[in-house]
Amino acid sequence: MQIKAPRGTYDILADDSYKWQYIEKVMKEVAEIFGYNEIRTPLFEHTELFERGVGESTDIVTKEMYTFHDKAERSLTLRPEGTASCARALIEHSLYNGVLPVKWYYTGPMFRYDRPQTGRYRQFHQFGIEAFGSNSPHLDAEVILVLVEILLRLGLKNYELHLNSVGCPECRENYRRHLIEHITPVKDKLCEDCQLRYTQNPLRVLDCKNESCHKAIEGYPTLYDNLCDECRNHYTKVQETLKDSGVAFIHDDNLVRGLDYYTNTAFEIHIPGIGAQSAVGGGGRYNGLVKDCGGPDLPGIGFALGIERLLLAIDTLGKKDFKAANIDVVVITMSDKYEDLAIQVLNHLRRHNIRSEKDYTGRSPRAQMKYANKLGARVVVLIGDEEVENGCLTIRNMQNKEQIQVENQELISNINNIL
Ligand code: HAM
Repeated sequence: MQIKAPRGTYDILADDSYKWQYIEKVMKEVAEIFGYNEIRTPLFEHTELFERGVGESTDIVTKEMYTFHDKAERSLTLRPEGTASCARALIEHSLYNGVLPVKWYYTGPMFRYDRPQTGRYRQFHQFGIEAFGSNSPHLDAEVILVLVEILLRLGLKNYELHLNSVGCPECRENYRRHLIEHITPVKDKLCEDCQLRYTQNPLRVLDCKNESCHKAIEGYPTLYDNLCDECRNHYTKVQETLKDSGVAFIHDDNLVRGLDYYTNTAFEIHIPGIGAQSAVGGGGRYNGLVKDCGGPDLPGIGFALGIERLLLAIDTLGKKDFKAANIDVVVITMSDKYEDLAIQVLNHLRRHNIRSEKDYTGRSPRAQMKYANKLGARVVVLIGDEEVENGCLTIRNMQNKEQIQVENQELISNINNIL
């Protein structure tokens, strides 16, 4: 039986990998301009980290984690996201004692066991940033600006930035009570998931994708109306800073995010036209996370972008600039007795940064020429009896079909003249 990639995973083949490299380059460049440096954490962590960090009642922890036991019976989990790992690394290396804020970016695969569909995979990729050690609303705005700058540089101007404040634990507890009071009389009208959410974390009911749930709770009290003075002022300052920076946003009372660690600012970026999974990125503050993971009481904020969804959005722009790197030169031998010489010529070309290739399958000279065409070579170097006798090489310009003989030492300059 043919073995295929597991459901919800896929291969990134050569032409596409150039798109990925391009996007990753833009994201890294922007993050570095804003003073973020790269962190690389393991692909798996102790399961407890995500249970404590992401939250035991979240969909991610209850349904979506790839958890396994290793040979020593430790419970490990393939990371479903990057924030908890960053908090763990910050604590493990006592970086909270150093220069604050600590500003990191990361990129790589994440794993969630969910029903695959367009824009939703079991192994997907995120680019994220995290900043630990400051509660300044200016930092909230900075993090959002990084996200917006990335989108703009990728040509994605049609994004929608949704913003809310989920408050601190105190205002959220207060709000929770009000919300439960409002939902209790209509709770039987909620979907199965929301009936469960309602008891564990009623805020998640606001996040439900089912219209019927939204209808059932119509007129519900908003988080915004229940924010304490400090949280409200913080949120106002974030909004003002974004406005001053020319960033448009939509205040969204329904935005609560699906991970438990959020406090205060929460945001999501949507791009219309990429299907049901339109959230290309999301993030927010998580002022209790470092403490929950066993560290000091240190605030933090960040976001993650889903690279697959960004690619879907970029595809809607209709640009087709991405292609695997072409081979520029193919070395062709008229007889296999010149194969060793071809290797020497190839070494010489490659040392001079010329993308070059030869045949390794015993093709005839004619078939080697066809192969050069298939690879998109702009020049071929021919080695035959005449060349060897005269101690030179023949260069053929594949565009105008002109051929010249050149001395070995003039090979590179002549090829560079054509390329
Ligand atoms: P998240 O909203 O769970 O947040 O994920 C961020 C982004 O990852 C989503 O907006 C989406 O584009 C992408 N994504 C999530 N799940 C999938 C999937 N199954 N397939 C494809 N793409 C997916 C977080 O992960 C937080 N750690 C973000 C954050 C960083 N908050 C603070 N700092």
